[in-house]
Amino acid sequence: MKAIVCTKYGSPDVLKLTEVAKPIPKDNEILIKIHATTVTSADWRLRSFEMPQGFGLISRLVFGINKLRQPILGTELAGEVESVGKNATKFKAGDRVFAFCGATMGCHAEYKCLPEDGPVVLKPANLSYEEAAALSFGGTTALDFFRRGNLQQGEKVLVNGASGAVGTAAVQLAKYFGAQVTAVCSSANLELVKSLGADRAIDYTQEDFTKNGETYDIIVDTVGTAPFSRSKGSLKETGRLLLVLCGLPEILQIPWVSVTSDKKVIAGPAAERVEDLRFIAKLAEAGEFKPIIDRCYPFEEIAEAHRYVDTGRKKGNVVITFDRSSDTAQ
Ligand SMILES: NC(=O)c1ccc[n+]([C@@H]2O[C@H](COP(=O)([O-])OP(=O)(O)OC[C@H]3O[C@@H](n4cnc5c(N)ncnc54)[C@H](OP(=O)(O)O)[C@@H]3O)[C@@H](O)[C@H]2O)c1
Repeated sequence: MKAIVCTKYGSPDVLKLTEVAKPIPKDNEILIKIHATTVTSADWRLRSFEMPQGFGLISRLVFGINKLRQPILGTELAGEVESVGKNATKFKAGDRVFAFCGATMGCHAEYKCLPEDGPVVLKPANLSYEEAAALSFGGTTALDFFRRGNLQQGEKVLVNGASGAVGTAAVQLAKYFGAQVTAVCSSANLELVKSLGADRAIDYTQEDFTKNGETYDIIVDTVGTAPFSRSKGSLKETGRLLLVLCGLPEILQIPWVSVTSDKKVIAGPAAERVEDLRFIAKLAEAGEFKPIIDRCYPFEEIAEAHRYVDTGRKKGNVVITFDRSSDTAQ
């Protein structure tokens, strides 16, 4: 099968379309023929080795010293089950599914094997493969942070970086959970975030949310520009700051914030749970959650997709499609 192999850390030029062995499902696994995947901020980070401050060494130990130990990037997919292992009973050939492989990656390929009990669920029938591929990365991250931040109905939430993959998911989920939502983005994305349900949109080029006197129960920072030192004055007395992106210095400060105030800072990797995929699929099926797709690129042009993601300006998600024109599936 064809796969995109990341030959070393570097620019999108390090990505090579390569012929690799097609995986064979183990007894408890299913083999998925991938119809769509995405290029996320995680793919950009790992390929370029642009790590948040203080995480360089640990990331090399975890992901590979000079090149990626798992050289096939791609955290999420949507596709069709082609075959199942002899003990796998939960899926059958022909099932349309989506999956979140998260840190184990490997979705930038024509096929992927996953345990039937792994992070894979049936695709919502009303979503295309392209849409389903873009459900997981932003959706599960935002959901996990809101869970850890104990978001309650009626609370005031601000999302900094509301137009990215995590931001567009966070705005929609916060609205779904009954919050009043303020979305922070650039002028070009004001209409987008309002269309997702934001009650108020702040253009960060015109207004600094930390200086307008407003306070929030929860602030979500997906950009790294709203650390506690900057946003503490915008948090209510028992406010929670959800740092989806931050460096080691902010993480080391967390215990001090807890000891010296009733405010809370929450950071670290989001949990990857199959129940969260099911929850997001249910919301999408009911029309309560919509994966935002900025651009689609054919599989063979994935390096171009990386170049676009590298700009840091994508809106929602960038999707990669496979030519399955010989298939009848949508
Ligand atoms: N902790 C975790 O487990 C976890 C999970 C997923 C992602 N992350 C991290 O979270 C970050 C966000 O991920 P993502 O996938 O959502 O990124 P993304 O989709 O690449 O975000 C792009 C968006 O960032 C916005 N942006 C750039 N500068 C901004 C600024 N100064 N103020 C407000 N918005 C700004 C851009 O909007 P404009 O063009 O409008 O500026 C663009 O729409 C990444 O760094 C990623 O590594 C962490």
